[in-house]
Amino acid sequence: MKVKVSRKAHFNAAHRLYRQDWSFEENEATFGKCNNPHYHGHNYELIVSVTGEIDPQTGYVIDMKILKDIIRSEVEDAFDHKNLNIEVPEFKELNPTAENIAVVIYNKIKPKLKRELELEITLYETPRNFVTFTGK
Ligand code: NI
Repeated sequence: MKVKVSRKAHFNAAHRLYRQDWSFEENEATFGKCNNPHYHGHNYELIVSVTGEIDPQTGYVIDMKILKDIIRSEVEDAFDHKNLNIEVPEFKELNPTAENIAVVIYNKIKPKLKRELELEITLYETPRNFVTFTGK
């Protein structure tokens, strides 16, 4: 019997979506406003979900305090109020789309969890646009 537990978090960050090997016009056609050379910000909302067996001793799948601390150190401290393109090494060569940010977050959090726990990352870039990554 497995249970999924989730914690919400958020961070504000700036980004620009573009490819250096494309012309400005090509970037504009593909990325629109997100290609603004002066960058722009989003209020990202994050849901981190962990699925696993309930520990019979504690009754927990994971201690939420532990999950909270992992999210703080791996995501909030690393991304909040940062320019993702410039200040976050993972996005030096990787376009900071919501898809790629979700994958980066997954890859940072997964090694911090017990191996048997499953991880799911849902990231809202706007209230209406969100992506989900489960490591597959
Ligand atoms: Ni954007």
